[in-house]
Parts: sequence; structure tokens; C-alpha cells
Amino acid sequence: MKAIKIDLKENSYNVYISEIAKLKELKEIHHSKILIITNPKVSALHIQKILPNLENKEVFICTLKDGESYKNMQSIEAILDNAFIHKLDRKSLIIAFGGGVIGDMSGFAAGIYQRGIDFINIPTTLLAQVDASVGGKTGINNAFGKNLIGIFHQPKAVYIDTNFLSTLNKREFRAGISEIIKMAVCFDKDFFSFLENANLLNSKEDLEKAIIKSIQIKADIIRKDERESGIRAALNYGHTFGHVIELLENYSTYLHGEAVSLGIIKANRLALKLGKISQNESDRILNLLKKYNLPTEYEVKDKNDFYKKLFLDKKSQNDKLRFILPNGIGAFEIVENPPKDLVLEALG
Ligand SMILES: NC(=O)c1ccc[n+]([C@@H]2O[C@H](COP(=O)([O-])OP(=O)(O)OC[C@H]3O[C@@H](n4cnc5c(N)ncnc54)[C@H](O)[C@@H]3O)[C@@H](O)[C@H]2O)c1
Ligand SMILES: [Zn+2]
Repeated sequence: MKAIKIDLKENSYNVYISEIAKLKELKEIHHSKILIITNPKVSALHIQKILPNLENKEVFICTLKDGESYKNMQSIEAILDNAFIHKLDRKSLIIAFGGGVIGDMSGFAAGIYQRGIDFINIPTTLLAQVDASVGGKTGINNAFGKNLIGIFHQPKAVYIDTNFLSTLNKREFRAGISEIIKMAVCFDKDFFSFLENANLLNSKEDLEKAIIKSIQIKADIIRKDERESGIRAALNYGHTFGHVIELLENYSTYLHGEAVSLGIIKANRLALKLGKISQNESDRILNLLKKYNLPTEYEVKDKNDFYKKLFLDKKSQNDKLRFILPNGIGAFEIVENPPKDLVLEALG
């Protein structure tokens, strides 16, 4: 069993990469009362695989509707109601069992129920395994935008079992890979080369290696900047442009990871114009996204409107535009307020 430590002093925890069915005892689960949060799809496919690990516990299951559109206050109330009905107390545990949507909501509910109880993440999508399940960002969407309500609440442990991914559809799987590529571009050129040479992460070995590497990168970032006052912002490479694309397409045309891929291409065009990357480096990133069948072409219809919408990004502060741009492959730079004409040109 491999474990990666997320080192946050008294909030430290382990991310285990292992087949959960083989872990008879989950040492972090010492709680007697447990509420599992999941959705109908994940529950039908996989919940039987985790229940044997929780024998001798009082286990309740709260099944929420599936989808980003249910990542809202109503679902949080449903979780909290369940917690009250089953009389969870300060020593009880919430387990998030699903993708990033379930993870973000479970963590948020756990963080506010009786001013905070323990929670554990068992992520079942690639995106959640490499990114969302680690780092303690939790929350929901509302009419004003995505993830605008939430808290930092670190899990007590994260259990990653790549077997869950066997039922994930190919498109969801690929969307997770764009977050992996994001980490490689900004932080690790050897990891980038590994992804260039790997056989589409089809083998369990390569897949585990990519997941472990991504979590190690994220672990290092969180240790240095838990609350995103600096370097953690680098995880938003491709996201400033990608979020606008998601918004313009009503969150329906592209999966988040696909929009990030499109956003990475726009960010690279800007980086190229600012001399942060060479044409060759930009081509390598483009080719890597293409290799993993991620979309790379998005035509901006109204560039001025797109530009205005860039300011809605949470990372923009005091009306300043901030972009995370690659600085070669394996490093990044935060660029504030680049000339508007260059941004417009980067839109294509
Ligand atoms: N907290 C963070 O740091 C962080 C980071 C990145 C993303 N996020 C959030 O994560 C969310 C996206 O997560 P996601 O991409 O996992 O989406 P998701 O949770 O909606 O899951 C995608 C789909 O896959 C299904 N699914 C889950 N596991 C499955 C499995 N094993 N087999 C078959 N189907 C399965 C789900 O039911 C859903 O239909 C967004 O809300 C985003 O804001 C959070
Ligand atoms: Zn993302």
C-alpha cells in the first residue's frame, strides 16, 4: 500500500493508493457512526465494495441526485437533515463516496455540521482522485457562479482505488487527464515527458504512477499554501479561460476538464506572445492534449465579451486580471494585467 502524506501540521492526513477491498482495517475510521454520501450511479456500481470495510459500524447512506446542477444548498440541507435524523454527533464521520461533486458537498456539510465533524474522501472519478479529493477545498455553486460558497475543511484521510475508474466513461476519464497535464506543465518536466511517452495511461501501472505523481505535486503545493494565498493558484492554469468557456456554453457543452484543455491552449497563446514559452514548448503541450483526445480548438465569437467575462474569475482581484502561465515546461508564472490587445489576440 502506498501512502502520501499531506503535511499540514495538526491537520495532516494520508492519501492511500490501494485496493480498498484489501484494506481490512481503515485506521482513520475509528468512529462508530458513519454517514456515507453518494449518488445513485456510484452507489449501484460500487458501494458493496466499501461496505465490508465498515463492518461493526453503524452505517447510514445518503443518496443525492447526480450532477453538477445538484451541487447546491438544497443538497447540503439534505445531508444535514440526514445527519440530524441519524443523530450524528461530534465523534461521527461523513464519508464522501463519488466524484468531485459529492466530495465538495460532503466536505462542506461535514465542516459546518455541529461546527465541524470528521470526513473521509473515497473518490471514484479520475478528476477527484488526482485533484478534488485532496486539499480541503469544499463547497457548492449558486446562481452567482461555481464554488462561490464554501469552506476549507481537510479530510482525515483519502482512499484511492483505481478499480473504481473501470466503470467511468471514457470522456470523464479523459477530462481527468487534463488536470494531470496541468500539474505536469506547471511543476514537473519529467512528469510531462512521462505523459508524452506513456501509452494513454491504459495500464494500471502507468495510471497509478500518474495519480501518485499528481497527488505528490498537489501535496507539496498545499503544504506550502493551504489557503491559496500564493502558489496554490497555479492549479488554475487553463482555468481562467476555461471557466469563461464553461459559462458561455452554459456548463453543458464541455466537461470541466475539457474546458480546462481549451483554456490551456488560450493561456499558452498568451504565454507565447509574452515570451514565456517557445513555439516548440507550446506545440508539445498541444500535442499532449491531443494525444489524450482532449479538445483543443474553441472559437471565441465575441472577443470583447469574453475579455469582460475573464474579470468574473475568483482569481481576479480588485479588477486586476491574473493568469497562470507556463514558464517553459515544468514551471509557471503568475502574470497580472497583461496588455488587453495581447489577451484579445490570444483568444484566437
Ligand atoms: N475541491 C477541489 O479542490 C476541486 C478541484 C477540482 C474540481 N472540483 C470539483 O469537482 C467537480 C467535478 O468532479 P468530477 O469530474 O468528479 O464530476 P462528478 O462528481 O459530477 O462525476 C462525474 C460523473 O461520473 C459519475 N461517476 C463517478 N464515479 C464513477 C464511477 N466510478 N463509474 C462511473 N461513473 C462514475 C458521477 O456520478 C457523475 O455522473 C466540480 O464540481 C468541481 O468544482 C473540486
Ligand atoms: Zn479543474
